[in-house]
Amino acid sequence: MSDTDGAAENRGQWSSRWGFILAAAGGAVGLGNIWKFPYITGENGGGYFVLIYLLFILLIGLPIMVAEVLVGRSTQKSPVGAFKSLSSPGSLWAVPGWLGVLTGFIILSYYSVVAGWALHYTWFSMTQGFAGMNADEIGNAFSTLFADGDANIRWHLIFMVLTIGVILGGIQKGVERAARILMPILLVMLLVLLGLAITSDGFGQALEFVFKPDFSKVTAAGVLEALGHSFFTLSLGMGAMITYGSYLKKKEDLVAASGMITILDTVIALVACLVLFPITFTFGLEPQAGPGLVFINLPIAFSQLAGGVFWSTLFFALLVLAALTSAISLLEVVVSTFIDEFKMSRLKATLLCGGTITLFGLPSALSGSPESYFGSGFKEHSAFLFEGETGKNWFDTFDHLASNWFLPIGGLLIALFVAWRVGDKAREEAFTTGSRFARWYGLWLQLLRYVVPVGVIAVILYKIGLI
Ligand code: TRP
Repeated sequence: MSDTDGAAENRGQWSSRWGFILAAAGGAVGLGNIWKFPYITGENGGGYFVLIYLLFILLIGLPIMVAEVLVGRSTQKSPVGAFKSLSSPGSLWAVPGWLGVLTGFIILSYYSVVAGWALHYTWFSMTQGFAGMNADEIGNAFSTLFADGDANIRWHLIFMVLTIGVILGGIQKGVERAARILMPILLVMLLVLLGLAITSDGFGQALEFVFKPDFSKVTAAGVLEALGHSFFTLSLGMGAMITYGSYLKKKEDLVAASGMITILDTVIALVACLVLFPITFTFGLEPQAGPGLVFINLPIAFSQLAGGVFWSTLFFALLVLAALTSAISLLEVVVSTFIDEFKMSRLKATLLCGGTITLFGLPSALSGSPESYFGSGFKEHSAFLFEGETGKNWFDTFDHLASNWFLPIGGLLIALFVAWRVGDKAREEAFTTGSRFARWYGLWLQLLRYVVPVGVIAVILYKIGLI
């Protein structure tokens, strides 16, 4: 029996390459694509931001994606074990693995709260709908939800239970099946909404906004935000792709699979823009609406649209599905590490990790509430983290730490590890085995060795204020 089969017995394995691609793409496509990307594109003035983001995806994101999947597939282990087995026992390289587990733990705890808003909006769309509400009322509805601790906790708990349920099912029965069903539904829903957007008056203006670069709008902060988001959206920097790669059979073409995941993720982010901005322009709303772009602008449009109840239910259900497949990928990293490192059963690891993350998310659910310590008092205690600013609430503090610090540092360490620490022969063999893209090996290695570290370190120096 080959060791691949052995791994399949103990840890689970994808049933096919497409099972892997759909699950990994499902993990990558999430709130980052549909909620965050459109609003940061809006805030940064459109075209040039999209262009720079695409460059980062290609030059930094894709090489790291290949590196993560490669580490996972060749070790068939979750991040901690993978780093250990490619270096030496007791080596410090286990630290980036644990950093990834911590990052997944933190991100899921607040991601679930935003997913909870999407659940609330789906429920609200179905039971009441936005018809008859004016723009102010819709804006207030969002602020009210944001400040309502009880509602946030309720939706957070429901969403975590859903996520935990899928992970309990294991790899093929849980994660892969969820992705096989949810990803195609998501694609179809998005295309239906795109059809609606294409026929709206604002479509031409939206196309120009998203694709015509206006270089007078370039800002340093925008360039750096594009870099950070390219990590977040592709789920890089914390070992999610190492974990998913570890369930991949050794003969599969990992370069082709990584390319496919990157393309799916990017196309869906662009389509999300082409759904949101035509509607925004058609109704004369602002593209710079910030985080409320999805939760305020869209409902305003829906309130005036024929069939608004149907469209808003469809859209927010889609957001929930996208968030669910991503949340699954976050929890799977943590759970698989506990299974591998502490020899726990999947059941025990899932309940323990899922339960702890749920508890850790409660302060995030309370962060919008002015009466809660986590919304107000905590700001004083987190101020030391934000030089020259006042502090942030619990939710924003942990979001800031995880996405702005831990992911880029994690991604940098993974790139350095694969580019400089893993042996030349093993690396080349892992890249080229079964791959139709073997001739890209040299280019990939150069990107990973030089372009990725320089790019990421530049961001970190900028954040520290050194450049
Ligand atoms: N990529 C997902 C999104 O765009 C979020 C996500 C899932 C993620 N798994 C991750 C982000 C791992 C960073 C690391 O919404």
